Amino acid sequence: MIEMVRPLWFDGPLAVSQSSWPEPATICPAVASRQAAGSRNISATTTTSIHTWSMSEPEHVAVTRQVYDHSAALYAEAVGTVVSPAFETSLDTGILEVFAKDVLISGGGSVLDIGCGPGRVTAFLADRGFPVSGIDLSPAMIETARHAHPSLQFEIGSLTDLGVADRSLAGAVLWYSIIHTPPARLGSVWTELERALAPGGRALIGFQSGDNEQIERTDAYGSAATLRRYHHDLDDVVAGIEAAGLTVSAKIWRAAELGHETTPQSFVLAQSFVLVPPPSDEA
Ligand SMILES: C[S@@+](CC[C@H](N)C(=O)[O-])C[C@H]1O[C@@H](n2cnc3c(N)ncnc32)[C@H](O)[C@@H]1O
Repeated sequence: MIEMVRPLWFDGPLAVSQSSWPEPATICPAVASRQAAGSRNISATTTTSIHTWSMSEPEHVAVTRQVYDHSAALYAEAVGTVVSPAFETSLDTGILEVFAKDVLISGGGSVLDIGCGPGRVTAFLADRGFPVSGIDLSPAMIETARHAHPSLQFEIGSLTDLGVADRSLAGAVLWYSIIHTPPARLGSVWTELERALAPGGRALIGFQSGDNEQIERTDAYGSAATLRRYHHDLDDVVAGIEAAGLTVSAKIWRAAELGHETTPQSFVLAQSFVLVPPPSDEA
């Protein structure tokens, strides 16, 4: 099947087929893979940090990094560096606002924008007073985010290696960053999210949704790589998040509405369990 070409990252073109990625027996955490033989050092910043990763990382991770490294400047030009009505409907922005309020009601604290790209959502949350930082797989995206938002903190990281302590996050946003992760690989993303959220911590996930179909783009943005995108099934995403131990408080589906959208969009709000002590017999 061929979609009409609307060449944008958030939604768009090319051949669609049912996803058939096998569940890997194990997925090596990036931390472990850094220690593996064959790791290579890549300078991630013009200042201090060095990030390493293994040659044995999953193919979709390496390809996603390659394509976004190649197209980071183009992305920032096309999509922008702030949340905008061209890419977020009023419902989408409202969901971001609800997430921000929920984090505050739960006591506030650090928020991580995971797969931050040029820092659009990071800046949105910073404007609402949160200590927020962004991580992304792509060093070029991180450089773009730092350039666009010099007062905010951005580091290289991945969906399966957030680089934060257990139970340390009051909130986490995954705004269209799971779209290149095969459905069968999302389990390790939810496990890492559950590990990092503090009790009562909130998560917001946004993505294009469908029946887990895979969209393939060859020579994506002139990178010479074939980038795959997935229209994740909303109920599968909810089930995966709950299987990891988080509680889903809302699942939202909306029809394609913006000019570039060719598929419905979905959003999930989830929460880490709060341990409530059992009622005392003494009254
Ligand atoms: C469509 S862009 C969205 C960027 C940003 N959230 C926004 O709203 O503009 C997808 C981003 O997710 C990042 N990404 C994809 N897979 C990732 C992974 N496994 N770990 C970390 N970042 C990832 C990409 O590098 C890219 O910057």
